Amino acid sequence: MNSIDSLLHEDRRFPPTPEFAASAVAGPELAEAAAADRLQFWADQSRELLHWHRPFTQTLDWTQAPFAKWFADGQLNVAYNCLDRHVLAGNGDRVAIHWEGEPGDTRTITYAELTAEVKKAANLLASLGIRRGDRVAIYLPMIPEAVISMLAIARIGAVHSVVFGGFSADSLRSRIDDAEAKLVITADGGWRKGKVFPLKKTVDQAVTETSVEHVLVVRRGENEVDWTEGRDLWWHEEIATMDAEHEAEAFDAENPLFILYTSGTTGKPKGILHTSGGYLTQTAYTHKNVFDLHPETDVYWCTADIGWVTGHSYVVYGPLANGATQVLYEGTPEFPEPGRWWQLVEKYKVSIFYTAPTAIRSFMKQGRQIPQASDLSSIRVLGSVGEPINPEAWIWYRDIIGGGTAPIVDTWWQTETGAIMISPLPGLTATKPGSAQVALPGISIDVLDDDGAAVEKGQGGLLVVTEPWPSMLRGIWGDPERFIETYWEKFDKPGARRRMYFAGDGARKDEDGDIWLLGRVDDVMNVSGHRLSTAEIESALVSHPFVAEAAVVGAADETTGQAVVAFVIVKASQADVATADEASSILRAHVAEQIGAIARPRQVYVVNELPKTRSGKIMRRLLRDVAEGREIGDTTTLADTTVMQIITDKLK
Ligand code: WTA
Repeated sequence: MNSIDSLLHEDRRFPPTPEFAASAVAGPELAEAAAADRLQFWADQSRELLHWHRPFTQTLDWTQAPFAKWFADGQLNVAYNCLDRHVLAGNGDRVAIHWEGEPGDTRTITYAELTAEVKKAANLLASLGIRRGDRVAIYLPMIPEAVISMLAIARIGAVHSVVFGGFSADSLRSRIDDAEAKLVITADGGWRKGKVFPLKKTVDQAVTETSVEHVLVVRRGENEVDWTEGRDLWWHEEIATMDAEHEAEAFDAENPLFILYTSGTTGKPKGILHTSGGYLTQTAYTHKNVFDLHPETDVYWCTADIGWVTGHSYVVYGPLANGATQVLYEGTPEFPEPGRWWQLVEKYKVSIFYTAPTAIRSFMKQGRQIPQASDLSSIRVLGSVGEPINPEAWIWYRDIIGGGTAPIVDTWWQTETGAIMISPLPGLTATKPGSAQVALPGISIDVLDDDGAAVEKGQGGLLVVTEPWPSMLRGIWGDPERFIETYWEKFDKPGARRRMYFAGDGARKDEDGDIWLLGRVDDVMNVSGHRLSTAEIESALVSHPFVAEAAVVGAADETTGQAVVAFVIVKASQADVATADEASSILRAHVAEQIGAIARPRQVYVVNELPKTRSGKIMRRLLRDVAEGREIGDTTTLADTTVMQIITDKLK
């Protein structure tokens, strides 16, 4: 048994409207060019999308595989590409950022203003002794200074390590230590759910006895802070004295741009390393083509925090390289009212909206009347990222947020891939609810069985990237061995012709060759010798009108090896329709009917919350502990550490 069984059927198709297709950015010529000569295709894209201070002559050097070099003899400045060149092209007055603070304060920042701010910040960093290659940690809320800091660091050839503002002092410290950061940029505090949460205090705890020389503090929360003279500096005081001129120096294409830590399933966080030219090429390319960006007219909004890779690639680098106008919002979706996001869509006339399935499902849970209270008619493209989106949520997203017409791009990628890899193209692909569908032109994807053979159409297996791509990770910071072991050894058997990147995800190829993501391979269940995916059973559960969210795990079972155990959240509107016991038996029968008796859950538990990481991914490992009656494992990366206690109490 070496492939993953796939049992779910979904036949709905949504081709683009003729009007959408007629003005679409990406047409069939992209795939044709990529198929004709893949490396030439990427070289052309890079030259077209970016400004190279020194043009490259070599596209890819793969001789040291899996350590790739893209455009290696070229030189560019990432920040210049995101800023100065738009001003020089006459677009300085275009709004780069419509920023909205949680309390309702706003800032409108044009490309000319953003460029000036970044130049001052670059001068400030230089005055603090930050040089090319130095690491700077960023621990900020979603305020414009977060974007300004990232670009200023990039502008001087230094390396940023953004740490999500919700992480603890210990997490921050371990990331500072691993990267040996010289400077931390933080704020006194940020706004969240109507309150100021302190950031500087956490930094104070994290930086003692580390490599950090200075802490630069943006004033935002206006909360009290302790101050270490000589080490701590106020951003606004320092910036005020800086020159607004700064010439962008060109750096090698492979100059490191950032490190971003990702937890992985076990062990210490991995510092994923990205570099400049290839990363910026693919983020700009995907942002333009996948979201059908018309920079003169579109207003784009990606709801991700800059602490995640989505915030790096699709809040900062992709959109700004393309000269887009975007919304940046500080707070949570439901504050001060559950409809806050939709009010922002109406206010700024957002036309391209990119978010995560976990957010979509939480809106489904609240009910459609909340988004329907705002005018969402400006929306014309919707994106999804971070998890498989189940067909039910997909249809709801299209109907309720997209007015029944907006194409959905379900984008598969990872911190490691740097940019989108698999996605429909909205003017070209007839979309299928729940499927990320096709490798983008220039990207080579396959689904393999454990022996490294491609699975037949209709079969499931392991997702791999079979050729290097421009925005690929260049390594794990300080740990080349772990880089090779984690991603490149799985199919590196004697006789294998190529180095293949193993993504850690299960996937299925359907009869058309389209890709359906099945969840992390570590979460796959083995029931009576059938390997079943979490994503499909969760989809079947969510397709029942009772269910808002579901998580499924495999628990040890005497007869079947593993048994399916499900945890579901019932929709607010359905809470009184059935008791938990009734709901549970109805849902077990529903899964059996939708997928087959093999997938019928042994138990369905109705719970109020599911354990999620701060980026919204369900931590199935913890639910497995519950299902198998074990002590709950490490919960420190949970968004809400009390959730597991509530779940275990409820099931007693
Ligand atoms: C999952 C987020 C299904 C997948 C950009 C991947 C998805 C992991 C999708 C990376 C999608 C991301 N459909 N699954 N459209 N997008 N994933 O590093 O398991 O936070 O390996 O990057 O999220 O998560 P990361």
